[in-house]
Amino acid sequence: MNTLRLHSGASIPWIGYGSGTAHYGKDCAAITLTALQSGFTHLDGAQAYENEPSLGEALSKFTQASTSSDRKKLFITTKLEAVSKAKGQTVESKLRESLQKLGLDYVDLYLVHNPKQHAEAGIVQVWKEMIKVKELGLTKSIGVSNFNKSQIKELLDAGLEAPTVNQIEYHPFVAQTLQPLLDFQAKHNILTQSYGGLTPLIASRFEKVTDAAVKEKREALEKLVDSIAGKNKMTTSQALLKWLKAQGIIAITTSTKEERIKEYLATDSLPDLSAEEVKEITNVTGGIQHRTFDFVPHMDTQ
Ligand SMILES: NC(=O)c1ccc[n+]([C@@H]2O[C@H](COP(=O)([O-])OP(=O)(O)OC[C@H]3O[C@@H](n4cnc5c(N)ncnc54)[C@H](OP(=O)(O)O)[C@@H]3O)[C@@H](O)[C@H]2O)c1
Repeated sequence: MNTLRLHSGASIPWIGYGSGTAHYGKDCAAITLTALQSGFTHLDGAQAYENEPSLGEALSKFTQASTSSDRKKLFITTKLEAVSKAKGQTVESKLRESLQKLGLDYVDLYLVHNPKQHAEAGIVQVWKEMIKVKELGLTKSIGVSNFNKSQIKELLDAGLEAPTVNQIEYHPFVAQTLQPLLDFQAKHNILTQSYGGLTPLIASRFEKVTDAAVKEKREALEKLVDSIAGKNKMTTSQALLKWLKAQGIIAITTSTKEERIKEYLATDSLPDLSAEEVKEITNVTGGIQHRTFDFVPHMDTQ
């Protein structure tokens, strides 16, 4: 499995299997075990998905059944949800709770899931506590999710270490708008993790669209991805994953189906898209934006 290097020194597999979206609030132990057995080494969980115990169950079964299941070969992420002062919670207590559910001594990556959830304490204070849990060895690396440029800048201006990653909605329908954020992140050695990367292929994510320009650009994008996939003897999902990989972006995806899990994993050994094909996919939307996950602020790039 191809990996990228985080500024913490850790290696992160370029593709991860998520337990949100399709699995949100559901027991996903069986399909996560299938993902692990098929070759996924990178799992993306979150406290908010309310299914960390099922990730723990999959990890425990995988570890017991396989000789190649060395913990060090796995990369496990979880994300911090809101911290309730009234309930006596802290960033550390939330992570310790997650570790117990996951059956792990540490996670590889702990992310602040959504800056909006930390208005009371402030993101700088939360980030200080994130640094502390890393120093305690409860996580190897720390990062953020759904942060915009000014929120990341706030952490840096406070003299604190930079997040290793920012996990954001990223696909061709937001790529041009997000370029300033990506440039800023590159300058500070912050990798981008994409969620929603396969959005252009998912009809239900366009159901409510009334904007003719978005519809027209989706058709153009579909046609282009189809043609690039055909030329390169790959599926459309694989072509979009290759588009992410070519930009040095870590792809967080998921599936409810074993055959699709295998399809995603097979991407790793397929030839890369040409620079021209990558550019064509980025440009075909003409900067027309369509967001699926509009509950988070990272699209405002200020
Ligand atoms: N940080 C955050 O705020 C945040 C937000 C959202 C998600 N995430 C993370 O990112 C993970 C993935 O998010 P996502 O589900 O949005 O990822 P995605 O990669 O955009 O979509 C995955 C879905 O695409 C479908 N799919 C794949 N190929 C397809 C094709 N050719 N035609 C039609 N459908 C196709 C799959 O359906 P099947 O199940 O039918 O295969 C699967 O459910 C989540 O599980 C979660 O871990 C994080």
